[in-house]
Amino acid sequence: MIQIAVIGCGVIGPVHAAAARLDNEAVVRWACDSDASKLPRIQAERSTTAAAEVIADPQVDLVCVCTQHPAHADVALAALAAGKHVVCEKPLASTPADLRRMVQAAAARPGQVASGIFQHRFAPLARRLRQLVADGSFGRIESLHVDFACTRDERYYGSGAWRGKRLAEGGGVAINQGIHTIDLGLWLAGAVPQTVTGRVARRRLACIEVEDHFQAEVACAGGLRARLSAVNDGVTGWKQVLELRGSRGSFRLGDGHRLAAIEHSSAALREELAAIDSASLDGKPLGGGKDVYGYHHALQMADVLEAIRSGRPPMVTFADATVSNAVILATYQSTTQRAPVALPLDPATYSFPILPLENA
Ligand SMILES: NC(=O)c1ccc[n+]([C@@H]2O[C@H](COP(=O)([O-])OP(=O)(O)OC[C@H]3O[C@@H](n4cnc5c(N)ncnc54)[C@H](O)[C@@H]3O)[C@@H](O)[C@H]2O)c1
Repeated sequence: MIQIAVIGCGVIGPVHAAAARLDNEAVVRWACDSDASKLPRIQAERSTTAAAEVIADPQVDLVCVCTQHPAHADVALAALAAGKHVVCEKPLASTPADLRRMVQAAAARPGQVASGIFQHRFAPLARRLRQLVADGSFGRIESLHVDFACTRDERYYGSGAWRGKRLAEGGGVAINQGIHTIDLGLWLAGAVPQTVTGRVARRRLACIEVEDHFQAEVACAGGLRARLSAVNDGVTGWKQVLELRGSRGSFRLGDGHRLAAIEHSSAALREELAAIDSASLDGKPLGGGKDVYGYHHALQMADVLEAIRSGRPPMVTFADATVSNAVILATYQSTTQRAPVALPLDPATYSFPILPLENA
């Protein structure tokens, strides 16, 4: 039996608990939140407000880090140091220094599973497309275009003291919401980002310190160029579009995990992809998720539990989870420096830009 502790019982912690419960050989032992009023959101054998108590429990095998961004690194590192397997919500970290600490800690403990949540990579269509891109079915990948938009208003930003704050959230629409589509696009393309040129801005919301507009151009190894856009525009509910073009074909994913367009000479391939249903697997609906985030936490949790049981690495290691995270931080740095930024980032020179309200 794998015994699980969920640290952070706000919006996403219960999704981890629900995903864990789908496995008959796993049990949610602890619900932990520093705010005691959140504890009842997760049914567990025990509950506490002290993460240290959970991490010190020798019965705990896996810790799910579901806190706000700046707490990820300290909680994850303490859990790894105590010999636990760790799943950490996106973004792994909101500073290059924390990102580096987390990757180094995971690399130092290869026997422990350390996985960063990017649940959209687990959608059946996404997995098949990744396989096809990797085996060359779309030829040399030349461009990636990510177009993300959503609405997050004053009420949303008022729902948690950390939301919309420069230090407490570490960024805005890109690092919190757009990161899903940015990550999916970069992962599907097999991108190895090298240089990022970008600009973020605060155009609409006076109640936040972080960006509501994000634009980046990413030069990647092998000549791939990625254009990334993420905006909190006040009118779009949730839009995630990505288009990948290769020398032998292209595809566009529309909202959710829908195949919106495909160009490829093979009719069999076009038909196969059009028939993939990402809301279910083997005919069974995927559980354990929220509509807007997709239903794929359940699949990522299953991957992590299988990795723990078999001793293999998880599908999304901490190192894998840094790629999109670092591109977003590099865009913030590029805004501060008004210059292209090379990866890997230098933690010593990183700073999030001060963003005056542009359309006041
Ligand atoms: N993958 C997804 O689709 C998805 C969706 C929503 C949120 N998230 C991510 O999940 C994380 C949490 O977001 P949320 O919306 O659930 O936030 P939230 O504010 O609703 O919940 C976070 C909880 O963590 C608790 N907490 C903070 N520090 C703690 C500590 N040291 N020990 C114990 N408890 C602590 C807070 O009291 C709070 O209740 C963020 O990283 C966010 O980006 C991911």
